[in-house]
Amino acid sequence: MDGFVDIHCHALPGVDDGADRLATGLDMLRHAADEGVDDVILTPHYRADDGLERGQVLQQRFAEFAAAVTDAGIRVTVHLGAELGFRFGLAGLARTTAVARLAGGPYVLVDLPPGPLSPGLEQAFFEIRTAGFRPVLAHPERHRDLAGDPERMEQLRAQDLLLQINAGSLRGCFGRRAQVAAIHLAESGQADFVGSDGHDLEKRPVALRSAYEQVVALAGPDEAQRLFVHNPRRVLIGEPVEPGPRAESAERPGLWDRIRRRLH
Ligand SMILES: [Fe+2]
Repeated sequence: MDGFVDIHCHALPGVDDGADRLATGLDMLRHAADEGVDDVILTPHYRADDGLERGQVLQQRFAEFAAAVTDAGIRVTVHLGAELGFRFGLAGLARTTAVARLAGGPYVLVDLPPGPLSPGLEQAFFEIRTAGFRPVLAHPERHRDLAGDPERMEQLRAQDLLLQINAGSLRGCFGRRAQVAAIHLAESGQADFVGSDGHDLEKRPVALRSAYEQVVALAGPDEAQRLFVHNPRRVLIGEPVEPGPRAESAERPGLWDRIRRRLH
């Protein structure tokens, strides 16, 4: 069986709120290897306001870290990407620097700020798509307004916005609301990826195995493979992802009413 590919991870040391130093970053990847992860895309936070210098710094740090991973004999291949803070005009950043794209390919990982959803959200993602990139929304289940607004989530999904849920959300690490939303997205085939969003060794580790088993139980082994292995691998090679078996369950009448009842 192919190993997992983690498309969302903050193990690159000393560049954001993830790994605080080299030893932590290496230990996070050792843990990832133990979990069955073969490849990790390192996705430090990157805001458009940070400018292109940020991209150069990340490339330099990545080269140093990749060498350290090899020297340490850790059986994980690292790739560089970024988690872009949402704003208009992200397509320009993705065009200008490969660091802004996952493993330098066509996929871009975008994080929404907390608080009310921008009314121009769909337009901003439309701009990214028409520029030739494939936007992936990071952990929508953790966004309070989105998790509580299934219709909006479906609208975004219907516009080819890909959804990456966090393994920790499935396990309940981010509260009940995020867990219910994550489980629903996984069960209904609306999710496209599960990533670790790992930040450290304890509170938010690079842990995928237990969430994988959970998805096997919820949605079957094929769906678990799609979310943890096949689709993340397509990000690495720049190929389109495989859509989920969403139609039947997502369009079942009364589904969202049941979800709301679970939440309230
Ligand atoms: Fe993240």
